[in-house]
Amino acid sequence: SAAGPLAGRRVVVTAGGTREALDPVRYLGNRSSGRQGVALAEAALAAGAEVHLIAGIVETELPAAGPRLSLEHVESARELQQAVAAQAPSADVLLMAAAVADFRPADYAAAKIKKTDDVDAPTITLTRNPDILAETVRARPARGGPTVIVGFAAETGDGATDPLELAQTKLLRKGCELLVLNRVGEGLVFGRDSTEIHVLASFGVQGVLGDVEPAHVVGTKREAADAVVDRAAR
Ligand code: C5P
Repeated sequence: SAAGPLAGRRVVVTAGGTREALDPVRYLGNRSSGRQGVALAEAALAAGAEVHLIAGIVETELPAAGPRLSLEHVESARELQQAVAAQAPSADVLLMAAAVADFRPADYAAAKIKKTDDVDAPTITLTRNPDILAETVRARPARGGPTVIVGFAAETGDGATDPLELAQTKLLRKGCELLVLNRVGEGLVFGRDSTEIHVLASFGVQGVLGDVEPAHVVGTKREAADAVVDRAAR
C-alpha cells in the first residue's frame, strides 16, 4: 500500500468540460482542457490516495487506470451530477475541477435541427443546470461524504471587482472548505501547462491551517495541484 499524507484516503476528482446536447449532432461546450483536473489526480496519487477520476470532455491524455486509480467518463452536467452523487458518500476529498456548464438547452431535439427556407435563425432557450458543488455540500450532513470539498473558480475579472473578492464571495456561497481561484482568458491557462492560482480557505479551515492569506502559486498545473492536495491533506 502507498505512503504519503493521503494514504488510505479516497479522493474523487472531476476534470474537463461538459457538453450540453442541442440535438443528436450539436452541443454547447467550453474551453476546459481537463489538464488541471488530471494534474490534481496525479498529485493525489503521489500523495498516496486512492483516486477516482470523473472525466468530462478533455483535450489531454488521461492517466492509465491502475490499482489506485479508477476512471469514469461523463458528458453532460447531469451525468456528472449523477456520478458525483454516487461517489461523494465514500470520498474523503472531492476536488471539483470540472468546468460544468451553468446552462443547458431547455429542449433537446431528437432529430437534427434543420435550416428552413426563411432567413429566421432558431432561438436557443437555456435552462439552469444543477450546481453540483453546492448540492454536494448541502447533501453532506444527511448523505455523508467528503471531509474536504474543494471548488474552483475561473474568473476573467471584469476590471472593476478584485478577483480575490469574487472568489471569497463564491467560497461563502458554495460552502466548501477550499476554493481555488484562477484567472482565465485569452492566452491564459486554457490548454496550457502553466497557471496561477490562489487557494482560499473557509473561515473554519483557516483555524486548522493557521493561514490568513490565501496560498499563491505560479507554476505548472502539477505544482498548483500539489499545493491544493497539500492543503486538502492538512
Ligand atoms: O459558480 P461557478 O461555476 O463559478 O463555480 C465553479 C465551481 O463550481 C467549480 O468547482 C465547478 O466544478 C462547480 N460547479 C458545479 N456545478 C455547476 C457549476 C459549477 O459543481 N453547475
